[in-house]
Amino acid sequence: MSSKRRTLVILGASGDLTARLLLPGLGQFLTDRPHMDIELIGVGSEPMTSAEWRKRVTSSFKAGGADPAVVSSVIEASKYFDADATSADDLARILAACDGTPALYFALPPAVTERVCATLSTMKLPAGIVLALEKPFGTDLKSAQALNRLLAKFVSEKQIHRVDHFLGKSTVLNLLGLRFANRLFEHSWNASNIDRVEISYDEQLGLENRAGYYDNAGALIDMIQSHLLQVLAVVAMEPPSTLDSDDLRGSMAQALRATRVWDGKPAAFTRRARYTAGTIGGEHLDAYAKQPGVDPSRKTETLAEITLAVDNWRWAGVPFVLRSGKALADNRKDIVITFKQVPHLPTGLTGTDAPAQLRISLDPHVMHLDLNINGEGDPFSLDKVTLSATFADSAMGAYGEVLEGILTADPTLSVRGDVAEECWRIVGPVITAWRKDQVPLDTYPAGSSGPRSWKRLPS
Ligand code: BG6
Repeated sequence: MSSKRRTLVILGASGDLTARLLLPGLGQFLTDRPHMDIELIGVGSEPMTSAEWRKRVTSSFKAGGADPAVVSSVIEASKYFDADATSADDLARILAACDGTPALYFALPPAVTERVCATLSTMKLPAGIVLALEKPFGTDLKSAQALNRLLAKFVSEKQIHRVDHFLGKSTVLNLLGLRFANRLFEHSWNASNIDRVEISYDEQLGLENRAGYYDNAGALIDMIQSHLLQVLAVVAMEPPSTLDSDDLRGSMAQALRATRVWDGKPAAFTRRARYTAGTIGGEHLDAYAKQPGVDPSRKTETLAEITLAVDNWRWAGVPFVLRSGKALADNRKDIVITFKQVPHLPTGLTGTDAPAQLRISLDPHVMHLDLNINGEGDPFSLDKVTLSATFADSAMGAYGEVLEGILTADPTLSVRGDVAEECWRIVGPVITAWRKDQVPLDTYPAGSSGPRSWKRLPS
């Protein structure tokens, strides 16, 4: 085994996640870090020759914009194993084939991931092995705790990468610079100056043939329990001393530990809805309940909104509204920080007195700061103006960033075990209230901005 070489073993290599996100991200990473010595092994239940696998890798690398000259040697050396990753014999065969220190990437459903981990816990594993587990990490608080206990039996916390690709999004990373390198913002980043925080991830995309997974998750678990709570943590955390994995993840964990449903009342401070038939971009979309593989009696929501409190000195009394949904009119993916009104507007100043807002868009990567300044003509009449800036794109997409952490064994951008549990703890009361039907399942036509009865806070 070569000492510096890393072998990325993708379990679930024949699946959609691998082709659409992981391999394109890997191609970007290899292109950006040409000196890295990486071997790639695919493992799947679909019979495939290594030559067929290499073709898939080539086309996914191309889709991600990889430089063919840089990635060709990785493709040529790549192998595929048609194997059962829950079997100790098969896993031993795969690990023996690794020329570098293995990083096992579980692109598998949670139930299979748990079985593979149970098998690994019985085996002798190569030193320095890294495990990368896709979301969802467990299916509720209890199962996440059990999975953490199982993992702790055979690897250390720093060898575990619980993947949340939102932590690799360049805007989320830019939040660190924006908050902590500008005295202007950090100084007013608290309940004395901020009225509310909204984190929205509205998508135009519908179900996209993912009923097998999504109908058991819904918008709350698919997006809020994982991604949006990570974004909340970065917005709400105390300044870390350094950006190393202990400091950054410690600050994020502390913020999440203080987070709970507003007033402890999920029936009053959460909403859910499901899309009916409609039109998006001129295309007709069938009702969610009619899509193949969906069981309408499960009452899975495709739009979820929850109001949270971060119960600490900095944020007391500031609502954090997290919302995400599918088949909506607009792709609105942003963090909106609304500042409080000024304590006194001098009499004589007229016109708009809308509070200042900072709008940070996760896609596209831009930010806007709305301010009130004197309008045209009359200097004492205020108008709203917007200062805008574009965040530089990173060379790699979110999966490239995440893979960099995995392949350099740096867990900074992965979810720590206690944080994964906190996220389930936060949404647990919401899941219970919804199962008990304490919150109505509203409807909205696909292509609309949500149920008509839902008023959005103006932004
Ligand atoms: C995934 C969810 O984790 O994130 C999807 O399962 C969602 O439902 C996606 O569409 C959104 O992330 P991105 O980066 O593709 O906008």
